[in-house]
Amino acid sequence: MTVVLRSAESGPGPALLLRPWGAGDIPCLLDVYRDPVMRQSSRNPIMTEQDAFRWLEVQRRGWTDGGRLSFAVLDGVRGSEAGRVLGNVALKGWQAGSDVAEVGYWTAAAARNRGIASRAVEMLTAWAFESFGAQGLQRIELLHQQDNLASCRVAQKSGYALIGVLPAEPPAFPAAGHLHARSGQGGEVRYHAARRLRPGRGGRGTG
Ligand SMILES: CC(C)(COP(=O)(O)OP(=O)(O)OC[C@H]1O[C@@H](n2cnc3c(N)ncnc32)[C@H](O)[C@@H]1OP(=O)(O)O)[C@@H](O)C(=O)NCCC(=O)NCCS
Repeated sequence: MTVVLRSAESGPGPALLLRPWGAGDIPCLLDVYRDPVMRQSSRNPIMTEQDAFRWLEVQRRGWTDGGRLSFAVLDGVRGSEAGRVLGNVALKGWQAGSDVAEVGYWTAAAARNRGIASRAVEMLTAWAFESFGAQGLQRIELLHQQDNLASCRVAQKSGYALIGVLPAEPPAFPAAGHLHARSGQGGEVRYHAARRLRPGRGGRGTG
């Protein structure tokens, strides 16, 4: 399945094109991971061509088994798939019949603070509810480290309400986390605190 999502070129926010990652993106991935912030926030940073191949293989398998639907986020102004890669956005952990999935994302350092991540998250969210709502998807969660203020802002701007605070879980999660969520019906997301806010869930890292 090859899914390509395009935002309107006019209107608020940047014009973006989302398409699955491919082998041609290796130089871009290596470039993105020269950023120390990306290296620190990823459990498996891409340092070598081999790492990039492995990462792309995870994305390819994700589309095959449906467990990880990731998109390269490109500048969509040119209306072409050859635009510059600006970031990544992914729907993670959803299976047919399940009511919940998670969104993850990152933006290349040079493209930050231009509304790329929030626009890409909005596009992915709309597509996910439209595509999988009938198969049970009701809620998408967004997790980030509490001290990642830019990520918290992305959540707010893309309509993901703050649901709760997850405790730190060193060594994997040295800082507390925020759990945000958005419902497919646009209604308030309700959680049973004891069931939902347990530690050990979610990535709290890069997409
Ligand atoms: C978090 C991240 C994805 C944001 O991407 P982005 O494309 O810059 O996001 P947006 O431009 O849509 O929004 C960023 C918002 O955060 C704000 N922001 C940035 N740094 C901030 C800071 N230190 N404190 C408070 N707000 C901050 C920006 O001003 C902007 O808000 P505004 O539009 O109201 O001005 C990007 O910084 C990144 O990739 N970081 C490294 C990896 C990562 O943290 N991934 C997310 C893991 S959950």
